[in-house]
Amino acid sequence: MPDKLAVEGGTPVRDTSKNPWVAWPHTDEEEWQTKVEPALREVYLSRTEGLPGPKSTAFGQRFAEYCGTEYAICMPHGTDAISAAITGALDLDGFGDSGEIIVPNYTFIATASAALDRRCSIAFVDIDPDNFTVDPRAIEEAIDPDRTRAILPVHLLGHPANMGEIMRIADKHGLKVIEDCAQAHGAEYEGRKVGSLGHVGAFSFQSSKNLTSGEGGAVTTDDRDIHDRVHAFMNVGRRPGGARWEYPRLGWNYRPSEYLAALLIVRLEVLETQTLRRNQNADYLTEALTEIEGIIPPRKNPWATKHAYHLYPMKYQQEHFGGRSRDEFTAALRAEGIPCTSGYGAPLSQEAGLSYIAQKYPGLIRVLPCPHVEKVCQESVWLYQNMMLGSRKDMDDIVEAISKIHKAFNA
Ligand SMILES: Cc1ncc(COP(=O)(O)O)c(C=O)c1O
Repeated sequence: MPDKLAVEGGTPVRDTSKNPWVAWPHTDEEEWQTKVEPALREVYLSRTEGLPGPKSTAFGQRFAEYCGTEYAICMPHGTDAISAAITGALDLDGFGDSGEIIVPNYTFIATASAALDRRCSIAFVDIDPDNFTVDPRAIEEAIDPDRTRAILPVHLLGHPANMGEIMRIADKHGLKVIEDCAQAHGAEYEGRKVGSLGHVGAFSFQSSKNLTSGEGGAVTTDDRDIHDRVHAFMNVGRRPGGARWEYPRLGWNYRPSEYLAALLIVRLEVLETQTLRRNQNADYLTEALTEIEGIIPPRKNPWATKHAYHLYPMKYQQEHFGGRSRDEFTAALRAEGIPCTSGYGAPLSQEAGLSYIAQKYPGLIRVLPCPHVEKVCQESVWLYQNMMLGSRKDMDDIVEAISKIHKAFNA
């Protein structure tokens, strides 16, 4: 007889009231006293909580160094960072028709809404089901020579997109590449960090992200002109180092608070150590899960020399779990004390907010066939990045809970 599942009243594999998962954001008293409190205090006592933004500039320099780019500009959110990056790459004023951007149909809504907000139309395309990032072949098929101006790959769930192919396609067709790096701080494609691979990169530091200040974002680039346009977008049209009352471009106020930048400077110091730990745990977990028929652990493509595991995505094959549905599986797993989610429930193009706009403004949104997105939406089960910061025992609990459910569903 298999053990009784916690969802049916049995004892859970993990009692999270006694044995909680690593909390996120990671905080500890010593770090507060030695690093965070002095940094916030310095901002407070300096009375420079905004302009001219010395901490934001300092964070920008450190983040650029971390990503391997010439420049990084700190912003209040990832969504703004994508809008700014598009503006910079395509030299937009935001009023005329900005052309079309190719976007994967499996991503967070901000990837698409930021493009629409800049008066771009979008073409949604399929993903590579191996790594959940945009499929370069689908990009090439979608290109409309009269409209397409850019590609917006997303390094989804921590796995870098196939940037070599994407840059090749972009060069061939004269397109710009804007990387959405919101879920992949520190991930590397063939040894180079995301955010340094396309023409411009956009990051989020929202509260769930691997580097966070509650809310926040950044734009990275090597291109001086893109940098200056992003700066103008962020700082009411001003030129970097220019006069306070001169506005050579039209821009908005997306300047971050200095408190946000001060916190990011502290947290950036531990990002690499945390990424390494997530990777070690994820690799260990992947090896153990390979033994369970019907669970496909995430695959790292050869170009992904470093994963960032913003999420740990598995695929669930119900035929190996007694035909029980993915929702029954996630409910059972949660009851065993293992937090999880089924992730994006449908292709992004089907979200009500977007399909409404697509109907109201014909031509604004094109949707190419996305069979892989459809399938991945039905099979995915994600674990959260903070769980990957735990111990080997934590990983063992995940494996034990999944094995327990596997036996019970197949009994
Ligand atoms: C892929 C992706 N792009 C963009 C964003 C938007 O970032 P923010 O929430 O900081 O605006 C997020 C996360 O929230 C995201 O996951």
